[in-house]
Amino acid sequence: MESNLGMKRLLVVSNRLPVTIDKKQGEYIFKESVGGLVSGFSAYFNSLQNTAFTEKDSVWIGWPGLSVEMSDQPAIRERLSKEFGAFPVFLDEATMDKFYLGFCNKTIWPLFHYFFSLTKFEDDLWEQYVAVNKVFCDAVCQIARPDDVIWIHDYHLMLLPEMLRQRMPDVPIGFFLHIPFPDYEIFRLLPRRWGAAIMEGLLGADLIGFHTIDYTQHFLNSVARILGLAHALGRVRIGERTVRVDTFPMGIDFAKYHETAKQPRVIRESERLRRMLGDRKIILSVDRLDYTKGIANRLEAFALFLEQNPHWQEKVTLALVVVPSRVGVDQYQSMKRNIDETVGRINGRFGTLRWVPIVYQYRYLPLSPLVALYSASDVALITPLRDGMNLVAKEYVAAKADNQGVLILSEMAGAAKELDQAIMVNPNSIEEIAGSIKEALEMPEHEQQRRNQGMQVLLAKYDVIRWADLFIKQLLGMRESERKAAAK
Ligand code: G6P
Repeated sequence: MESNLGMKRLLVVSNRLPVTIDKKQGEYIFKESVGGLVSGFSAYFNSLQNTAFTEKDSVWIGWPGLSVEMSDQPAIRERLSKEFGAFPVFLDEATMDKFYLGFCNKTIWPLFHYFFSLTKFEDDLWEQYVAVNKVFCDAVCQIARPDDVIWIHDYHLMLLPEMLRQRMPDVPIGFFLHIPFPDYEIFRLLPRRWGAAIMEGLLGADLIGFHTIDYTQHFLNSVARILGLAHALGRVRIGERTVRVDTFPMGIDFAKYHETAKQPRVIRESERLRRMLGDRKIILSVDRLDYTKGIANRLEAFALFLEQNPHWQEKVTLALVVVPSRVGVDQYQSMKRNIDETVGRINGRFGTLRWVPIVYQYRYLPLSPLVALYSASDVALITPLRDGMNLVAKEYVAAKADNQGVLILSEMAGAAKELDQAIMVNPNSIEEIAGSIKEALEMPEHEQQRRNQGMQVLLAKYDVIRWADLFIKQLLGMRESERKAAAK
């Protein structure tokens, strides 16, 4: 599909770059980053590029995932630019401690996911958040040109739109939030000064996007309550400017998952997996390690299902994949220990010499093995306690080239608004999840096909390219109408 950017260059700005640098035995290695934003957005970003990056190409600005010594920075910068179209924002460990592990992941992340008891309210974390948003602002200004389009992503950079607006008043700026925007009653738990700064920061954009109508409404409500600004038809007037706030449910690269599932080597791998697991039914669980994902409840629900349905024992395996994430935050470490113990306890209780009920991997799976696992699995059990969207649910459905397979989905995931043919569960109810596992395993094949077909049509139509194109189209349209209004 032709991008609607025309001759314009897109500057994508997010905390994490699509590549993460690691250092092993003194050598820098580059690997694909983990998480919904990158796995979803990379397809669009890559579609804008030629095979070799040139001056005209779009640029992704962000942190490379590691603090890099000064002397190594020029070489890393050059490699990131040439090979990945990326412009690194180098930040040292002490800064990332307070910014990324601190305000982003100990304040905003838990609060916006309704885990207010885990939320830290510390001034020095907030100050570092402001400071790092300024560092990003300087980085963007270093390379931005007046005819660029800027698209900022996610909760790490909510002050950046207004900071950039001050420096580049005429550049179109879009912002998209990849996590939930909470109800005002939750948002107002932030000290008023911080809350108002976040609102004003976001309103520096011309267009602010959210995954669901609820998040959009919550945001508009907070704007009204905190800044006293009225809104009509998703438009907020601030000073001389109008800001558009709208809903754009993010899609996936449907073709990539659907076609990969049909590749002969992926089919072979999927058959090998099934044989390895004794030709039993497979229930799949894949997440980044995160307390929002509801992994503990899911494990308990699987145990309850086995207890309530002894005839299913030895006939089903739970394939549990947990992708390491944010190891520097305490809660993530204690959660890892908790999962390890729970898996051991359940396997000890139900396992036999012939059967391990839960097969557990704590690692990142690249595309082919992941799709092989999606296609081998009879059921995907996706039960986050709260999730902005959850792209894994969409990927699972897309990878079902034969339309077999059942998605069990939490009603607390943004994806539940679209994937209405999934079996919906309340992730807080272990009984409900256990019941849904039985229902999924016993669902007739024609019913599975009917449901998947409907969801696949939607996912193929509203894929990530369409999502991004709609956002960009609306962003450029906003600027156009602003210009016309100013000329009158
Ligand atoms: C979520 C967030 C992303 C983030 C990803 C991985 O999907 O919305 O912005 O990049 O998690 O988390 P990390 O902390 O490793 O960047």
